[in-house]
Amino acid sequence: MPGLTIGDDLPNLEVETTNGKMKLHDYVGDSYTILFSHPGDFTPVCTTELGMMAAYANKFAELGVKLLGLSCDDVHSHKEWIKDIEAYNKGHKVTYPIIADSKRELIKQLNMVDPEETDSSGHKLPSRALHIVGPDKKIRLSFLYPATTGRNMDEVVRVVDSLQKAAKHKIATPANWKPGEPVVISPNVSTEQAKEMFPQGFDTANLPSGKSYLRFTNV
Ligand code: BEZ
Repeated sequence: MPGLTIGDDLPNLEVETTNGKMKLHDYVGDSYTILFSHPGDFTPVCTTELGMMAAYANKFAELGVKLLGLSCDDVHSHKEWIKDIEAYNKGHKVTYPIIADSKRELIKQLNMVDPEETDSSGHKLPSRALHIVGPDKKIRLSFLYPATTGRNMDEVVRVVDSLQKAAKHKIATPANWKPGEPVVISPNVSTEQAKEMFPQGFDTANLPSGKSYLRFTNV
């Protein structure tokens, strides 16, 4: 995804949403925010994804994370579509805002364009892009999935948890890590520093190199 990527500032665009007009930075405020785009209203995979986001909304709220959807239709269309999303995903209300981008200008500025998918008029559609924005309004992580692959919300929770833990402690999360499992201590932390930073202790893997860079702890 050229342009907007990890470390970049989220542009402070004024957007129209199902919950009214807003500036992106005002919405983010002091929270982490998941900004996720969809190819279009009244499409099958998107209906399951927006419903699943609604089902996970409490989990994201516990993590202090706001949700913000985007699709390339107008607010009226979004509001009609929400009725289908809520009916299909029984009991889960879509309370997060969905941005209307009927002119397809925002998706270009937010680097959410799918290079291959077009609508019946030949206009480019958004991909399944997902940016996690930090409280500093910087992009901390981006996914880019094609229209044909729905996202896994457990993976979104997992990466939010990883980002938040790494922002708080000098740690990283290893392959296939799940929330609650041990994390690794950052390689730029010396053994002496690790003893001070992690009084709960840590285990160092015994490796053929004899180097002690793979250290596991719990945070
Ligand atoms: C869908 O949301 O199901 C979808 C949208 C565009 C292309 C393919 C699938």
